Amino acid sequence: MLRFEDVSFKYKSDKFDMVKSLSFDVAEGEFISVIGASGCGKSTVFRLINGLEKPDTGKITMSGKDIGSIKNYSSYMPQKDLLYPWRTIEKNICLPMEIQKKGREEMKRRSAEMLKEVGLWDYRDKYPRDLSGGMRQRASFARTLLAGSDLLLLDEPFSALDSLTRMGLQEWLLAEWQKHKKTILFVTHDVEEAVFLSEKVLVITDRPITHFEQYRVPLAYPRARADLKRQEILNLKEELIGKLRQEAEQ
Ligand SMILES: Nc1ncnc2c1ncn2[C@@H]1O[C@H](COP(=O)(O)OP(=O)(O)OP(=O)(O)O)[C@@H](O)[C@H]1O
Ligand SMILES: [Mg+2]
Repeated sequence: MLRFEDVSFKYKSDKFDMVKSLSFDVAEGEFISVIGASGCGKSTVFRLINGLEKPDTGKITMSGKDIGSIKNYSSYMPQKDLLYPWRTIEKNICLPMEIQKKGREEMKRRSAEMLKEVGLWDYRDKYPRDLSGGMRQRASFARTLLAGSDLLLLDEPFSALDSLTRMGLQEWLLAEWQKHKKTILFVTHDVEEAVFLSEKVLVITDRPITHFEQYRVPLAYPRARADLKRQEILNLKEELIGKLRQEAEQ
């Protein structure tokens, strides 16, 4: 579905490449986590996928088409929820549909469905400041889904939350993913979160980024927290933590 072919990228103000000859593929419907030290370029890779930055060389395609020639193929949910404080929750989540110039009726109908689904129907007329952190993340996710793209780029969406809320949202996200059959790329600093959620974990171990080290998580869906205690999962977590340590020491 998504393909990087020999992609290199450097920020104008930098001397060195951030990404160099990077090639990788994401298949439709996959849930992939990306981990790596702070500043290694995870968000930069998302910005490239989303077209906010352009590769200097190489090609990024979605289902064979250059991303420069297509629209609305991905939606980006940044770490900090970007809900507009002056818009109600309902108006916030309608924003992508407004941009796409959808009709009033359709917006009403789809936002109502989504508000119920994420458990925010009773809060539709409230403002972001009236909601808890976890509720704002759900609103932000609802908006990301309503953008209608098949590829969701979630950049540390739960990092600012307490661990109980976070666990609840992880389980909720898995259920949403299975229901909507989207493709998800998920950046996190939390190895356990990566292992619990995804089918594959990509580890960034070099600078510039020339490749990802890939690990498959040997668990089927639906998953339970107790699965994390299995020996092969404990081993995988250890190995991933070791990789991150090694990278941090370089
Ligand atoms: N717009 C920009 N212009 C120039 N340099 C940038 C820009 N955005 C990011 N960088 C630099 O690129 C590097 C990678 O940044 P990036 O945000 O991709 O890292 P990250 O892996 O997402 O980090 P974190 O885990 O802290 O979010 C950093 O050194 C950062 O300073
Ligand atoms: Mg980042």
